[in-house]
Amino acid sequence: MQEIIKALEARRAGARLGGGEKRIAAQHGKGKLTARERLDVLLDPGSFEEYDMFVTHRATDFGMAETVYPGDGVVTGWGTINGRLTYVFSQDFTVFGGSLSETHAQKICKIMDLAMQNGAPVIGLNDSGGARIQEGVASLGGYAEVFWRNVEASGAIPQISVIMGPCAGGAVYSPAMTDFVYMVRDTSYMFVTGPDVVKTVTNETVTHEELGGASAHTRVSSVADAAFENDIETLMEVRRLFDFLPLKAGEKPPRIAVNDTRDRREDSLDTVIPASANQPYDMREIIEKVADEGDFLELQKDHAGNILIGFIRLDGATTGIVANQPLVLAGCLDINASKKAARFIRFCDAFEIPILTFVDVPGFLPGTAQEHGGIIKHGAKLLFAYAEATVPLVTVITRKAYGGAYDVMASKHIRADINYAWPSAEIAVMGAKGASEILYRSELADIEMIAKRTAEYEARFANPFVAAERGFIDDVIMPHGTRRRVIRAFETLRGKRVQGPAKKHGNIPL
Ligand code: COA
Repeated sequence: MQEIIKALEARRAGARLGGGEKRIAAQHGKGKLTARERLDVLLDPGSFEEYDMFVTHRATDFGMAETVYPGDGVVTGWGTINGRLTYVFSQDFTVFGGSLSETHAQKICKIMDLAMQNGAPVIGLNDSGGARIQEGVASLGGYAEVFWRNVEASGAIPQISVIMGPCAGGAVYSPAMTDFVYMVRDTSYMFVTGPDVVKTVTNETVTHEELGGASAHTRVSSVADAAFENDIETLMEVRRLFDFLPLKAGEKPPRIAVNDTRDRREDSLDTVIPASANQPYDMREIIEKVADEGDFLELQKDHAGNILIGFIRLDGATTGIVANQPLVLAGCLDINASKKAARFIRFCDAFEIPILTFVDVPGFLPGTAQEHGGIIKHGAKLLFAYAEATVPLVTVITRKAYGGAYDVMASKHIRADINYAWPSAEIAVMGAKGASEILYRSELADIEMIAKRTAEYEARFANPFVAAERGFIDDVIMPHGTRRRVIRAFETLRGKRVQGPAKKHGNIPL
C-alpha cells in the first residue's frame, strides 16, 4: 500500500510541475504567476479541489504522442472565496502555451456543467496561445462546446473571465460572453487577429499592447471591465467583485455585516450641487457618501466616463449603481454610455440585484457622429434594459432630468418603483435658456427679453415640484438624508414580484 501511495504522490508532483521548471521560470520571468499559484491567490487557503489532474490529450500527429503532460494545460476544479463556492479553470501557459485541445476543452466543460447543475459561478483564468495547432478541428470543436455553455450559463450563474496572458483568435469569444472581464496590465492581451495578420491585411503597424492590451480594452473597446497592475492585485480584485455577487439566478444578492449605520446623515451632500446649473460636480462623491463604508466597486471606469456603473452595499446588501456623471460631457447620454449602462442593468436584473440610479442628465449628446453611429438604436438599449428590469429600482434626481433622457433614466413611467428628487432637481423638457429661445424665437434679438423669458421658464419648470405634483416623483428629499431614504425604500421592495406577459424573449435593439 505504501508503494501505491508513493506512486500517487509522485504522479501528482509530476502533474503539478506542468511544463517543467524551465518554463515555470520563464513564466515568472515575464512577471506572471503559474496557473496553480494564481488559484492559490484567488481561492481561500486550502479550499481548492482539483479534478482531472491526470487527463492527457489523445493527439498523435506532429509527434504529439511523445509529448504528453498530465492535466493537458489547464487546471480545473472548485474552491471557495470567503467561504462561498465557485468553480474555476486556470490555463497553464507552461504546457503547450496553454493552448486548447479537445481534452483541455472537455475539462473546462466538465466544471461548467457542474457549476450550472450546482448553482455556483465559474471563474476562468485565461493564459493561452489559442487553439492547439496540432489538433486542428478537434480543438475548434472544443472551443464551440465552451461557447455554447457560456450562453447556456448566461443569466443562470455569474461568469467571470480574467485575462492573464495571451487570448487570441477564437479564444476571445468565451470571455466576451461572460459577465465580467478583468485584465492584467502589460502582460495580457486580447484580439481576434494579431499584429502580423493586421499588417498583412490592412498594412497597419501596431503592437500587441496597442491592439489588444488592457489600455485598449478598458478605454476604447470596453471589452474589459477593469485592469490592474499585476496577477496578485487582479485576483484580489476578482475576490472583491465575487463578494458582491449571488451564486446563481433566483438567489437574493449576498448581505454582509458592515461597519456603518443605516441612518448616517451626510450634511456635506446639502452643498454638493454648485450654484450654477452649468457647473459640474463629481457624482462619485455622492455615491461614496451614500454607500456602506464609502465602498464603490466601479466597473468600466475608463470608458464612457459620462455614466458610472458598479456595485455598492446598502445596509449590507449588494446594490447596482447607475449614475450620470456631470464631470464628463456634462453627463449627457451617448452611444457608449447607453451600451455600458444597459448591459450592467441586464446583469443586475438577471441576478436579483436592486438598482439605485442617480440622475443628472441634460439630454442625449447631439451631433452627426452620434446620429450616424446609431444613438437612436443604442440609446434604446438603455431604455429597453430599464423597462424590462423587474428588480427593485430606486431613482434619485440630483439636478437635471431633461427631455427623453428623463424618461430613460429609470423614471416612474418605465416602472421604477420609488423616485426621489433633491430640491435642486430640474425636471423639464430642456434647459430654460434653450426652451425660451425656441418658444420666443421672434424675440431672439432682444437679449433682455430673452433673459426675462428664461427666468420665467426657470421659475416655472426648473424644479422638482411640477413632477411631484403629478406623482412622477414620490417625494422631494433632503440630500443629507439620502442614504437613510434609499435604504428604507429598498427595504419595502424586498418582496417585489412582477409577472410580465408570456413570451419567449424580448427583442432588445442590438
Ligand atoms: N498550439 C500549440 N502550441 C502552442 C500554441 C498553440 N496554439 N501556442 C503556443 N504554443 C506553444 C509553443 O509552441 C511553445 O512551445 P515550447 O515551450 O515547447 O517551445 C509554447 O507554447 C510557448 O509559446 P511561445 O511562442 O514560445 O511563447 P510566446 O510568449 O513567445 O508567444 C504566443 C505566445 C501566444 C503569441 C505565440 O505562442 C503564438 O502566436 N501562438 C499561436 C497563436 C495562434 O495563432 N493560435 C491559433 C489560433 S486560435
